Amino acid sequence: MKITVVGAGAVGASCAEYIALKNFAGEVVLLDIKEGYAEGKAMDLMQTASLNGFDTKIVGTTSDYSKTSDSDIVVITSGIPRKPGMTREELIGINAGIVKTVSSSLIEYSPSTIMIVVSNPMDTMTYLVHKTTTLPKNKIIGMGGALDSARFKYRLAEALGAPISDVDGLVIGGHSDKGMVPLIRMATRNSVPVTKFISRERLEQVMEDTKVGGATLTKLLGTSAWYAPGAAVSGMVQSIACDQKKMFPCSTLLEGEYGLNDICIGVPVILGKNGIEKIVEIDLTDSEKEHINRSAEGVSKTNGLLEF
Ligand code: LAC
Repeated sequence: MKITVVGAGAVGASCAEYIALKNFAGEVVLLDIKEGYAEGKAMDLMQTASLNGFDTKIVGTTSDYSKTSDSDIVVITSGIPRKPGMTREELIGINAGIVKTVSSSLIEYSPSTIMIVVSNPMDTMTYLVHKTTTLPKNKIIGMGGALDSARFKYRLAEALGAPISDVDGLVIGGHSDKGMVPLIRMATRNSVPVTKFISRERLEQVMEDTKVGGATLTKLLGTSAWYAPGAAVSGMVQSIACDQKKMFPCSTLLEGEYGLNDICIGVPVILGKNGIEKIVEIDLTDSEKEHINRSAEGVSKTNGLLEF
């Protein structure tokens, strides 16, 4: 199993590290445009192998896409991250051009690969890959909901005073501060609805903290987060590589599901060896439907800024 991660910045390097730590891949190629940078990160990571007990070979390259040939899965993290106070949508101008070039270069060397898009604004970048490449829809997957759900569980555990392993929760919708839809009604502590333990007011706070999860970290770190994004990608990559058929909320092209069309937005999907093997349609309440529709309007507006 060969996996390529484009962008050896913080998110790309964390992603490569978590994939290696899970020890299911034969090779991870890390590619970056900055001279020597990916080679350096790859070498540093390889020197953790004997300490951390993995056998995955990590190779770095400066823009040599031939090294990514025949990748089973590729991950695009390239582009600029947001700075404090910026929205993900503001990155579209620069990142759209980068994602377009990177995705076509990757497909040239790995025509049947499965592509995971991380670059922001992620839902729009995923849509851009659909519009500008020939990959089938099951092979184009946006990473957002897996990360947002992890942040939701973190906030729920905090409010419950419970260990995170007790908590389950799902965030659908767009990967943006306003567009995320944390499904509080379905969140549980060991199958018991969290609404049994947490006041309405506190739950509102949990939802708000979840939605601005990335912005809060950007403010603290001066740039966007990397550990949780890297871990979220690695979980999705593992589910595909090992055909685990796990369910993650991912950005995928909707063609009528959830009443939406011609848009990539976060909904639960099953990830297995074919990429997105199934879109899971869950019954939403009228209020949840209203939230996802509003979220879709926001994503469509950003999609409207794309130039093909
Ligand atoms: C974040 C970036 C990955 O939410 O969008 O941290």
